Amino acid sequence: MRRKLAAGNWKMNGTAAALAELETLTAKGAPENAQVLICPPSTLISRAKDVAGDIISIGGQDCHANQSGAHTGDVSAEMLKDAGATHVILGHSERREDHNERDEDVRIKAKTAWDAGLVTVICVGESLSEREADNTLDIIGGQLAGSIPDGATGENLVVAYEPIWAIGTGKVPTLSQIGDVHDFMRARLERRFGEGVGRTVPLLYGGSVKPGNAPEIFAVSNVDGALVGGASLKANDFGAIIAALDAS
Ligand code: PGA
Repeated sequence: MRRKLAAGNWKMNGTAAALAELETLTAKGAPENAQVLICPPSTLISRAKDVAGDIISIGGQDCHANQSGAHTGDVSAEMLKDAGATHVILGHSERREDHNERDEDVRIKAKTAWDAGLVTVICVGESLSEREADNTLDIIGGQLAGSIPDGATGENLVVAYEPIWAIGTGKVPTLSQIGDVHDFMRARLERRFGEGVGRTVPLLYGGSVKPGNAPEIFAVSNVDGALVGGASLKANDFGAIIAALDAS
C-alpha cells in the first residue's frame, strides 16, 4: 500500500499569527488514511512542530547542498531536522526559477537531505511553452532522471508533479493530462529503481488544488495526494482537501 500525503507549502507566507491555522488543523485530528505535512517558512518550523505534535508532519521548503559551513543566509538539512522537520521540498519551480537551481543541484541537495534523515518531496513540472510544444513527458523524464539521486526508496522519496503554468494561476490540467504524467512518472520510477520501490513512491499533483477540484484529482490513477500552496494557508480549505484525500 502506498502512503497518501496531503502536503501544504506555505512558501514565504506566515508569521507567528499563522500558527493559529495550524492549531485549527491539528485540532481536527489525524486523518485515517492519509498523512498531512505542512512546510512553513523555516523561521516557524520549530514552533509549528510544537503545535502540530504527532498529528501533522512539518517540513522545510529547501535546504543547502552542504550540512554546514560558510553559506550566509542558507539553511541545512541537519538544521531543518534539528528544528523538528521530517521532510523537505526540493526543486520547486520557484526555486528553479528564482535561484537558478538545476536538476543537478536538486539531486545533490536530495542526497544531503537523505543523509540528514529527511524525506524529500522532489518537484518536477513543465512550462506552458513546453506543454504547448508537446514536450511535457520529455521534460518530466529528464527532470526525474536528473533530480533524483540513486538510492531512492518508498520511504525517503515523494515526487510532486507541478505544471508551472498551473501554480497559483487557478488553471489546472485536464484529469487525463494529470493521469498521463503520473502514469509516466510511475513507469519511470519502476524502471529505474525496480518495481518494488517504484510502486511505493507517493506521487503528488500540485498546482491550483482547491477543495472544489481535489476529489476528482485524487480519483486519477497514480495520484497519491497533493502539494498545495495557496489553499494550504487556511485551515478550512486545507482541511477539506485532507478530507477529500482521506475519503479517496
Ligand atoms: P498553488 O501552489 O496551490 O498555490 O497553485 C502549489 C505549489 O506551488 O506548490
